[in-house]
Amino acid sequence: MKAAILKKYDKKGSEIRIEEVPVPEIGPNDVLVKIMFAGVNPLDNMIIRGEVKMITPYKLPLIMGNEFSGIVEKTGENVTEFDIGDRVYSRMPLDNIGAFAEFASVDKTALAKIPDYLSFEQAACIPLTALTAFQSFDLMKINKNESIFISGGTGSLGAMAIPIAKHLGLNVFTSGSARNKQRVTDLGVDEFIDYRTQDYSQILHDVDYVLDTIGEKELEKEFKILKHGGTLVSLKGMPNKEFAQRMGLSSIKKILFGMVGRKIDKMAQKKNQKYYFLFVNENGKQLTEISKIFEENKIEPSIDEIYELSDINKALKKVDNGGSKGKTLIKI
Ligand SMILES: NC(=O)c1ccc[n+]([C@@H]2O[C@H](COP(=O)([O-])OP(=O)(O)OC[C@H]3O[C@@H](n4cnc5c(N)ncnc54)[C@H](OP(=O)(O)O)[C@@H]3O)[C@@H](O)[C@H]2O)c1
Repeated sequence: MKAAILKKYDKKGSEIRIEEVPVPEIGPNDVLVKIMFAGVNPLDNMIIRGEVKMITPYKLPLIMGNEFSGIVEKTGENVTEFDIGDRVYSRMPLDNIGAFAEFASVDKTALAKIPDYLSFEQAACIPLTALTAFQSFDLMKINKNESIFISGGTGSLGAMAIPIAKHLGLNVFTSGSARNKQRVTDLGVDEFIDYRTQDYSQILHDVDYVLDTIGEKELEKEFKILKHGGTLVSLKGMPNKEFAQRMGLSSIKKILFGMVGRKIDKMAQKKNQKYYFLFVNENGKQLTEISKIFEENKIEPSIDEIYELSDINKALKKVDNGGSKGKTLIKI
């Protein structure tokens, strides 16, 4: 089969190559999936640049790609939840990625069935970012009628986080690029703030939660608009000791992340706020919950551009250059 392979980490971003490799073997708990579409995420570029090695160290060469939609081709002997021909999707297990390929062997616990109303293209937009939103809301322990600020909500993360937050009854404020204002307003956003011309820290105050997608340079302002005792979950800031403990990382990493995250933890403590860093995990059960939310609300994911597998490097560059109008996809 054809697969897009990373041979070496490179801080400047290396080219990944399309090569012929064997179709993966499946174990008793695995499902062999014929991949239809794969989502391209900022995370793929971070993996190439070696920026997440401390969290998920991959042995190279590595088949790249974190999420897909596809069709069940074969099932392992312990798999009763899926049948040949089922339409499925997945954020692949952290320790076994490989969605930029014709086939993938996936542990059954990382898979879910695609809602009937969604095409394969639309479905490939969902798993990684929807699970990120779901897991963030879980950490926040959100309640109906509370408020959340999602920074950079005009990107592919916002396209999932906003409708899920609305479904869960939150008031949603977001910042982002003005040209995507209408799209996120249509998703139900209660207040949109153009990050180039407006300062959200002058507009918002006492919000219950912040979902940060920008990282360190915005954290101070984000804590400022958060209420006393509120919770901030960052997808881009520094990991801290709590993160290392939650992820079951080694003692060395607990010490290291404890050190690098201390500054932000202290920032949070000033107003008795909570700070979490999140790195999205695979989770088929949660993805099944997400399927139900999508089915109920008929949420339409927005697709930016679709590339052929042979143009994988162009797709990765596109995602790196910003200006996202939704998900960049690879047609397998
Ligand atoms: N830790 C995790 O598990 C996890 C999971 C998912 C995503 N993430 C991270 O979350 C971030 C967003 O992901 P994504 O897939 O949504 O990326 P994306 O599709 O590239 O979207 C980013 C959006 O943010 C906007 N933006 C850029 N700078 C901004 C600023 N200062 N204020 C407000 N908006 C700004 C961009 O607008 P323009 O470029 O059009 O100006 C764009 O619409 C990435 O850094 C990604 O790595 C992390």
